[in-house]
Amino acid sequence: MAVGRIIGSFFQYASISIAAAIGLYATLLALLTISTLQSHAVYLHAIQMTWFKDLDVPENFGFLKNQVTPFSIKTPDGERLYAWHILPIELYRKHEQSLIAEPVGFVSDFTSRIAFQLLRDDPDARLILHMHGAGGTVGSGYRVPNYRALSAGQPGKIHVLTFDYRGFGKSTGSPSEDGLILDAHAVVDWAMKIAGIPPSRILIFGQSMGTAVSIAVSEKLAMQSPPVVFAGTVLIAPFVDCATLVSTYRVAGVIPILSPLASFPLLFNYLRRLIQDQWPSKDRIARYIRSNEVNGEKYRLAIIHAQDDYDIPWHHTEVVFWHAVNASIPTGISYEELEVRKLDSQVDLGAAGSIMEWRTDNGVIREEVLKTGLHDVIMGYPIVTMAVMRFFEAADPSFTC
Ligand SMILES: *[C@@H]1O[C@H](CO)[C@@H](O)[C@H](O)[C@H]1NC(C)=O
Repeated sequence: MAVGRIIGSFFQYASISIAAAIGLYATLLALLTISTLQSHAVYLHAIQMTWFKDLDVPENFGFLKNQVTPFSIKTPDGERLYAWHILPIELYRKHEQSLIAEPVGFVSDFTSRIAFQLLRDDPDARLILHMHGAGGTVGSGYRVPNYRALSAGQPGKIHVLTFDYRGFGKSTGSPSEDGLILDAHAVVDWAMKIAGIPPSRILIFGQSMGTAVSIAVSEKLAMQSPPVVFAGTVLIAPFVDCATLVSTYRVAGVIPILSPLASFPLLFNYLRRLIQDQWPSKDRIARYIRSNEVNGEKYRLAIIHAQDDYDIPWHHTEVVFWHAVNASIPTGISYEELEVRKLDSQVDLGAAGSIMEWRTDNGVIREEVLKTGLHDVIMGYPIVTMAVMRFFEAADPSFTC
């Protein structure tokens, strides 16, 4: 009897807590249909991760005095984007004394600075436009070692420009898909018009959500007339599109958001339609490749992902790569057929992962899969330095001489 009662009340408690969990989950989903809350969940822009450090003092993030210049870039719709220009180390060393003598902190006229002149006046200078992921600021987490990896191959020539999208950090406004694309466009305009760097000396780097922004702005520029195509694009941990991402995304690699609903297709598709910002990277990358093939523009694209990425599973890269390759062939190629081609052409690097390179007369599309590197630690890895150097060299062989 007693045992029966204990088991009975155990099930009673268990069903209450399951009901509570389902109720909580349903409430969470309902809250996510509210526009502002959804944008907070997607962009995580309220999470700064650098609360106790002032971004206007980049020295607090491990940089040398005035190696980084904080300044702002205006967007056509009136927002002000907070940006950092980062001098590569060898160039800094050559100009150390004069850089140290300049005032520190936020600069309202960046063009008056030595760092700006070193960028604008050197015909050999290269510029990487950096599009960071969701959450945080230019100074957060693994972004700082990422900047070092980007310029490590030519530390006398490769400058990095990184910025916070609208609504992030010290930038004004609030984030949205159209807004972030406008932001990236404004940064490209700044690089080409104010700093005077031609697209052949610019490379686009994006990680996580930044890959969606990179792809969107690259597509837009490649499809305009005349087209603008950069020396290369390096993407780390991209995703197919938002709907596919939420169906696989787990917060901190553990808590699923929508995947429990995947077994209820009607409800799942209904919720998918409520996603405001779709970020259709697979379609945009296909249009980007197709228009470059039609226009005969040279393009270079590297898609890099670690197999132990728990935030965005690396399968996303396989799908994005397939869409890009498919768009480079007039008759297309099925996913399965491409997998068969990989069996022949993929380079196996053992513990370092594998590389699949796809070449056409106009372009190169590389898929680089690492065994380890998580979602963001990978940004500081030498594979990033290599990807940058490979593309700058391909765009201009004299670069590495
Ligand atoms: C692959 O490319 C072909 C030819 O351009 C196109 O018809 C097809 O829709 C593409 N497949 C996907 C999944 O985008």
